[in-house]
Amino acid sequence: MYLSSYEERILKGEYGYAKQKAMEILVALGDLYGAEKLIPISSAQIAGVSYTSIGDEGLEWLESLMDGQVEVLSTLNPAGMDLDRWRDMGIPIDYASKQIRIIEAYSRLGALPVCTCTPYLSGNLPTYGCHIAWAESSAVVFANSVLKAKTNREGGPSALAAAIVGRTPLYGLHLDENRISNVSIRIEIDLTDTWEYSVLGFWIGRTLKMDDVPFIEGLKTYDTDRFKAIGASMASISSMSIFNADVLGDSRPESCEKLSFDRSILMDTIETLPDTSMDKGCVDIVCLGCPHLSLWELKVIANLLRGRRVRKDVNLWLFTSRAVYSVAEKCGIVSEIESVGGKVYRDACPALAPLSSIGYKVMVTDSLKMWFYGRHLAGLETIFSPTIDCIYVASR
Ligand code: F3S
Repeated sequence: MYLSSYEERILKGEYGYAKQKAMEILVALGDLYGAEKLIPISSAQIAGVSYTSIGDEGLEWLESLMDGQVEVLSTLNPAGMDLDRWRDMGIPIDYASKQIRIIEAYSRLGALPVCTCTPYLSGNLPTYGCHIAWAESSAVVFANSVLKAKTNREGGPSALAAAIVGRTPLYGLHLDENRISNVSIRIEIDLTDTWEYSVLGFWIGRTLKMDDVPFIEGLKTYDTDRFKAIGASMASISSMSIFNADVLGDSRPESCEKLSFDRSILMDTIETLPDTSMDKGCVDIVCLGCPHLSLWELKVIANLLRGRRVRKDVNLWLFTSRAVYSVAEKCGIVSEIESVGGKVYRDACPALAPLSSIGYKVMVTDSLKMWFYGRHLAGLETIFSPTIDCIYVASR
């Protein structure tokens, strides 16, 4: 990969240890993928934030980058706990102290301690066509597909490296030719509830090949929340990182494979998930907010809870970003939910929180990404249910 003389000097260590290490990562990545050069980025979203995912080695590595500073707006993925209310979540003190050190290390590097998988709802909102370096698969799909920014699906180290250097290798989804759809999916039913969009995304991820670019056509109802649900589940089960859609102003590809999505496929997709019909009487936690809940989603949940109370034997945990939380708090939504026994947590991802070591066993969720990660990362039994059923399981 071609490097400018400035980039060569970074690689030789003339701009400090952290920048040198970051440049080494970018050069290795660029060489691996045949990138021609590095290009400037305007924002980064950094993964590898929870102590569950990076452990002591990751923490030590972060703390070794003392002389570094990010060059662009950089936000963080969720941590393994609410950074203030971790005791309330039952997080052990050892875990919490390591988690706080991780956030402090990122903050020293200049990354903003905005720990969310919806950075676009929290001030990190890239514009059309700009190059960015985002980790967090659901946010990557949202950025590429809805915002039309350009990013590969970065890992934690590569997103951090790009943030520190302010550049990323030019390959993959930074190139327009790799963003063109080759499979069209006609939606033959009226989807309405967000959980149905989660099923659509999951089915796309399971059905298409990893280098396919789907073109979704015929969605009658769509908004930010529904698009984030599609992207999250699609990316949970495949490495696809972009879709196009007629309702997003994309042009239909001239020749492509054609598939359709109808009610029987929707039902089939749900019915073929293992263990979804498990007895809901054994549920001990209901988690909503994967990806983090928007203001409107919190409002809808508050409405669903009206006149009900969360059961004593089930926890209802809702996850959102600090930005959304503070507006929801001002609007009285947080107190409405918490006054009937629900909890609204910030900063955290339930799949990355140490839930099974705290003692939780069975989780119900309306997100197929959480359903998937809850069982494969968090070691829980997980049940997928429509949002309203999740609320009814948790309350009466
Ligand atoms: Fe966010 Fe965790 Fe889901 S990072 S998208 S809440 S798995």
